[in-house]
Amino acid sequence: PGWITLKVPEATEDDGQPERVRAEVIELGGGLLLAVGDDLRRIGEVEEAVTTAFLWTVGLAALLGIGGGVVLSRAFLARVDAIASTAEAIIEGDLGRRVPVRGTGDDLDRLAGTLNRMLDRIGALMDSLHQVSSDVAHDLRTPLSRLYQRLEDARAHARSVPEYEAAVDAAVREAEGLLDTFAALLRIAQVEGASPRAGFKEVDLSAVAEAVADAYRPDAEEAGHRLSAEVAPGVAIDGDQELLTQAVANLVENALRHTPSGSHIGIHLVRDSAGRACLTVDDDGPGVDSDDLPRLVHRFYRGERSRTTPGNGLGLSLVAAVAELHGAALHLEIGAPGLRATLRFPGAGARCR
Ligand SMILES: Nc1ncnc2c1ncn2[C@@H]1O[C@H](COP(=O)(O)OP(=O)(O)OP(=O)(O)O)[C@@H](O)[C@H]1O
Ligand SMILES: [Mg+2]
Repeated sequence: PGWITLKVPEATEDDGQPERVRAEVIELGGGLLLAVGDDLRRIGEVEEAVTTAFLWTVGLAALLGIGGGVVLSRAFLARVDAIASTAEAIIEGDLGRRVPVRGTGDDLDRLAGTLNRMLDRIGALMDSLHQVSSDVAHDLRTPLSRLYQRLEDARAHARSVPEYEAAVDAAVREAEGLLDTFAALLRIAQVEGASPRAGFKEVDLSAVAEAVADAYRPDAEEAGHRLSAEVAPGVAIDGDQELLTQAVANLVENALRHTPSGSHIGIHLVRDSAGRACLTVDDDGPGVDSDDLPRLVHRFYRGERSRTTPGNGLGLSLVAAVAELHGAALHLEIGAPGLRATLRFPGAGARCR
């Protein structure tokens, strides 16, 4: 009993060898044995078929795995290459280049989007830097040459000590003006370059508006203006208190400086139903031409009528920069009459009043 391999001499294989049979012998009892078996060649064929199928399957699976891996990593590397070549192009000076975005929304796409936004931000900063340097070169030339002229004049023509003193005093005033302009420019650049929300704290905007109104009221009254403040209590936002105070002060100062005596200046702070803040400074002065409105926030821009008043044309640029830092919108419009400047903090509805 058990497994045996028999040779069957009566049957021959293809190669002339006697056929071999593999059989299991079972004892049936009573001296009888039962042998059940099959041709070894057929068993071999089945075995071979199974092995071949197995090898094919494993081979194909491996091929597909490797092939798929190569294709995927190639696609991935191609996109990484695209990022690298964009960076390379930017280094070479093509600052407008951006990383291609495929719109599939996958990880690499999101990375590309983030990189592009970063590049946009850097681009905007570079542009504003560029703008500042050309503005500075253009607009500081005049006072600098005036300063130079005064000193030259004094050297050529002043004959007495009082004449020299007068020339030096004038030069000192000119230099002071220049220093103020530089300080204002630097301040704007600082605000424009600051990262949004860094160092922000809760600011009581109502207190800021009241404080500015109180600070300017004596000057306003002395100049024959009327200044009123209509301030909703307890309006708070996240921000930089010093910059917000400066921005509101610039708006009030403009209303004082660019309107004739007897004008009325209003400071309004309202809160919409959702508690969002909207601050307006208006006056009933001559206002500006509507063509001028978009240019008022440009550095050094001064309206035709204001050329004789002191100032650099930088006040509203700073207000715009502070607004931007706070995610707020600065809206300038012609009132009826006068100029109305509105700072609308994020989320506030389109109309504030
Ligand atoms: N309330 C206003 N009424 C009329 N014109 C205004 C008013 N506010 C601003 N302007 C115009 O906008 C221009 C730009 O204002 P901005 O505050 O930037 O500069 P500025 O007041 O001339 O100088 P400064 O740098 O001292 O503020 C002014 O020169 C003026 O022509
Ligand atoms: Mg001003």
